[in-house]
Amino acid sequence: MQHPGNKPVSQEPALLNFLTSWFRNPKTVGAIAPSGPVLSRAMAAIVDPALEGPIVELGPGTGPVTAALLERGIDPKRLVLVEYDKDFCASLRRRFPEVNVVEGDAFALDATLGAHAKPPLAAIVSSLPLLNFAQEQRQKLIEISMRLLRPRAPFIQFTYGANSPLPVASPLYETSASKRIWRNLPPARVWTYRAK
Ligand SMILES: C[S@@+](CC[C@H](N)C(=O)[O-])C[C@H]1O[C@@H](n2cnc3c(N)ncnc32)[C@H](O)[C@@H]1O
Repeated sequence: MQHPGNKPVSQEPALLNFLTSWFRNPKTVGAIAPSGPVLSRAMAAIVDPALEGPIVELGPGTGPVTAALLERGIDPKRLVLVEYDKDFCASLRRRFPEVNVVEGDAFALDATLGAHAKPPLAAIVSSLPLLNFAQEQRQKLIEISMRLLRPRAPFIQFTYGANSPLPVASPLYETSASKRIWRNLPPARVWTYRAK
């Protein structure tokens, strides 16, 4: 179900926006194409709308995962998007006027969220290109995230890589993986890390 008032209002050329940002900053944009609808829905399906609290999306880019979360029936007022790229932020605000878009660094999640999302969070859904960042930075991000999430709430991350982009064994969380999603370009897998 699409939440009323959050129907995409324009047919912005998502691919063009994406490629423009990729040429400007290939390391932070990471992927060569926007996430497809099958991958986006697979990520959104892991979010439990009944779990209370804000839902934070990291690196939403052009917004395919945001659209899938809204289609799933998530109230747009619960969604907080953290995006580094100024142009993506502007485009997300136009496309999803009821969603809170925060321009900032997801790796400094505590400071970036500030008063925008009061923990405990119900889910964190990440499209960050984690493999482009140092293991130390990734580790710090998952540790902060586990502190902000409600027990059993998921940190959801897709990757094109063969392995988990975050350590699989941890005292902080449990890990599970989807099957490879072949109907995405490139094929991807969704990893879920659940706070213990
Ligand atoms: C793989 S792309 C997003 C893909 C998105 N699912 C789409 O299809 O448009 C990664 C996104 O993470 C954002 N990003 C990278 N580093 C970031 C950071 N430190 N904080 C917030 N966003 C970041 C990029 O600007 C980009 O929008």
